[in-house]
Amino acid sequence: MTRIAVKVDGTTYEDEVEPRLLLVHYLRDRLGLTGTPIGCDTSNCGACTVELDGQTVKSCSVLAVQADGGEVTTVQGLAEYGEWHPLQKAFHERHALQCGYCTPGMIMAARDLLRENPSPTSDEVRHALEGNLCRCTGYQNIVRAVVAASGQEAAS
Ligand code: FES
Ligand code: FES
Repeated sequence: MTRIAVKVDGTTYEDEVEPRLLLVHYLRDRLGLTGTPIGCDTSNCGACTVELDGQTVKSCSVLAVQADGGEVTTVQGLAEYGEWHPLQKAFHERHALQCGYCTPGMIMAARDLLRENPSPTSDEVRHALEGNLCRCTGYQNIVRAVVAASGQEAAS
C-alpha cells in the first residue's frame, strides 16, 4: 500500500492505496464521487475525464498514486455556490444529453477547450471532443451547447 494525499474538488484526502489502483476507481469507490463514470475498459470513451494539475486526463488511464500531492477537479467540483457551471447550464438548456453517461467527460473536455480557445467554432469543438464518445445524441446538441457556453449562441 502507498500513502497518498490528493486534493479533489477542493477537499484534501489522505489514503492508503494499492499502487495499481486507477484514479477513477479511487474517485468513485473510495471517495464516493460517482459523478465521474466508467464507460469502457480501453481508455477510449472519455467518460471518465477529469482535470489533474491543470491537465485534462482520462482517469481510467492514470493511477491514483500519480495524483499524489496533486489537485483533481471532477465534474462535481464545477458548480460554485449552488450555481451550475456555464457548460452544465448549456448542456441542460440545449438538450445535449440523453442517457448522460458521456456528459461529465464531455463537460470536462469542453471546459479545457474553452480555457484554451474561448471562442471556438463548431469544427473546433468537434475536434476538441474527438476523444469523447457519445452513443446517444449524434453530437449536434453537444457542439451547440459548447458554442453557446462560450457566449456565441448566434454562431451555433
Ligand atoms: S472509462 Fe476512461 S476512457 Fe472510457
Ligand atoms: S448522452 Fe448517452 S452516451 Fe452521450
